[in-house]
Amino acid sequence: MSKKKIFILAIESSCDDTGAAILQNDIVLSNVIANQKVHAIYGGVVPELASRAHQQNIVPVVQQAIEQAGITKNDLDAIAFTQGPGLMGSLLVGASFAKSLSIALDIPLINVNHMQAHVLAHFIRDKDQSIPNFPFLCLTISGGHTQILKVSGSNKFEILGETIDDAVGEAFDKTAKLLGLPYPGGPLIDKYALKGNKYAFQFTEPKTPNELDFSFSGLKTAILYFLQREQKKNNNFIEENLNDICASIQLTIVNILIKKLKLAVKITGIKDVAIAGGVSANSEIRKTLKECEETMGWKIYIPKFEYTTDNAAMIGIVGYFKFLDNDFNDKNLLASSRLKINE
Ligand code: KG4
Ligand code: ZN
Repeated sequence: MSKKKIFILAIESSCDDTGAAILQNDIVLSNVIANQKVHAIYGGVVPELASRAHQQNIVPVVQQAIEQAGITKNDLDAIAFTQGPGLMGSLLVGASFAKSLSIALDIPLINVNHMQAHVLAHFIRDKDQSIPNFPFLCLTISGGHTQILKVSGSNKFEILGETIDDAVGEAFDKTAKLLGLPYPGGPLIDKYALKGNKYAFQFTEPKTPNELDFSFSGLKTAILYFLQREQKKNNNFIEENLNDICASIQLTIVNILIKKLKLAVKITGIKDVAIAGGVSANSEIRKTLKECEETMGWKIYIPKFEYTTDNAAMIGIVGYFKFLDNDFNDKNLLASSRLKINE
């Protein structure tokens, strides 16, 4: 590689956040995100509204990322964008914008897998996070995905277990909705749980045919029936017990995640464990993983908060690795809503 400083513009638009970042090699110079507020009143992401909001946000978000990085668009060496998985209409906005700009500037275009990006966010060079060594296990927990991966290289991912129905973030958001909380409910469950007794109520943990897989739809139904039963006895049950209900639901979910993770460590013998995705912001999971570090001799890697939820910096780090490998998007791959982690 003759040029030492590589500037990459990265664009993320897979769901309801429009993100743009500038990386100089593996260092983030700017990481701008525009959250879409329009979905809150609907209790979930409305794809058509998300796509429209991306169209409105993308130009100012990219401009801001370039300005904050202190460069001009002519300094860019490549443009990386999220190819998938995600919502088709949302992906197409980021992909088409990235493609057009790469043609206009005559620089390479790099397609990035969003799930790989969540994992490789750990490789962003930042004084606030340490970089794992290969091989390591990664628990990817987000609103769309729940996976335990064995990561053996920057493009070597093996799925050891994954959800057979809802993702863990969905489990948080859907149960929050049952409690009358707005979308996204995960952070709110976390907030109320801090003041509650996590042993107040018990919920059965769902079973799966493959022990490393997850299932959360049964848990949601169990919580629904529990709430209906209790509300028949006391109309104000939710209001009077919100903190305890949130703490108990959160503990059940975290127990499910940790049990599977412990099994994966036992099967693989790998004790380096990373977490990724929006749900890794959860305080109970962070606390429990820290305990595993002390009691089980694990080495835990938790990314900096801004690199856990959907962001463009994580797209940029994959873009940088692919740039070094001369792995460009010359096959004209734009959006693929169901892209698997190994694709
Ligand atoms: O990775 P992410 O930003 O977007 C997806 O790719 O899905 O994850 C968003 C998910 C939402 O379901 C949100 O409720 C959940 O992460 N989440 C949390 C917390 N913060 C975000 N869930 C539980 N506790 C939190 N503190
Ligand atoms: Zn994500």
